[in-house]
Amino acid sequence: MDSSLKVASTIAEIRALVQSCRAEGKQVGVVPTMGALHEGHLSLMRAARTRCDVLVSTIFVNPTQFAPGEDFEKYPRPLDHDLDLCRSEGVDLVFTPTPDIMYPAGHQTHVEVEGISQPWEGAHRPSHFRGVTTVVLKLLNIVLADVAFFGQKDYQQQLLIRQMCRDLDVPTRIETCETIREEDGLALSSRNAYLSAEERTQAVKLSTALQWGLEEIAGGVQDLSQIRQEMSQRLTAETEFVLDYITIVDAWSLEELESPRDHMVAIAAATLGSTRLIDNMLIPPFSLQTLNDR
Ligand code: PAF
Repeated sequence: MDSSLKVASTIAEIRALVQSCRAEGKQVGVVPTMGALHEGHLSLMRAARTRCDVLVSTIFVNPTQFAPGEDFEKYPRPLDHDLDLCRSEGVDLVFTPTPDIMYPAGHQTHVEVEGISQPWEGAHRPSHFRGVTTVVLKLLNIVLADVAFFGQKDYQQQLLIRQMCRDLDVPTRIETCETIREEDGLALSSRNAYLSAEERTQAVKLSTALQWGLEEIAGGVQDLSQIRQEMSQRLTAETEFVLDYITIVDAWSLEELESPRDHMVAIAAATLGSTRLIDNMLIPPFSLQTLNDR
């Protein structure tokens, strides 16, 4: 591709652009986003840039993954700045559809992954994953990339997307990339922008509580329910955090664990003021390589 960024807002336009690259035998990578790009998204773009010939990104704040009363309206939409960032990361094509392009009048079909969509985020945000899997399948069908890149920060989301692609024979390969963190450990998220200065200082406890759990396991502690209790106390002590969950689960089934096994993830979600934050850490020997090689 030449170095100029092409922006397409219709399905026909992005399909034609991707198709002309595929016709030249190029490997296409896609980074789906909701915009408000930060270093986490940029790291996905960099990973895609090194693995693919053509880099596509999508910017779409997907209304169907927000429940009434969530932050759909106030979700940041700095499109010009996002496009500048795409340019500086060497993105070739950006797809920026509007809701009526993605969901024209009469749209009736939704995609739902069953089992692993139910606990954790699924229990706290009941319609969220149906919106995510529906839009991601649509984006994968529109872009027809060889590889799609997602962040580990949304661990349950990427697991569901993998399951959906397996179950529905979607040929796009899913690649999960590591969470990017602030210097103090807070996982990057577009929603961090909502935090007040005081909340920002407390927010770091989400990652430090998880990290503490990882260290206990590395040190040989076997009683995971004891670790769970202590992580929860560490998160909520002297903070305004309202806890949804902080626990250790099987990396594939997401079942809560009482004793260690090889594939484990520590996951957490909690609200600070009006901002809901999530985070997770893979527990060695489980690694991104194991996840991506599966
Ligand atoms: O993770 C996100 O930003 C969104 O859930 C996604 C995958 C772009 C779907 O809207």
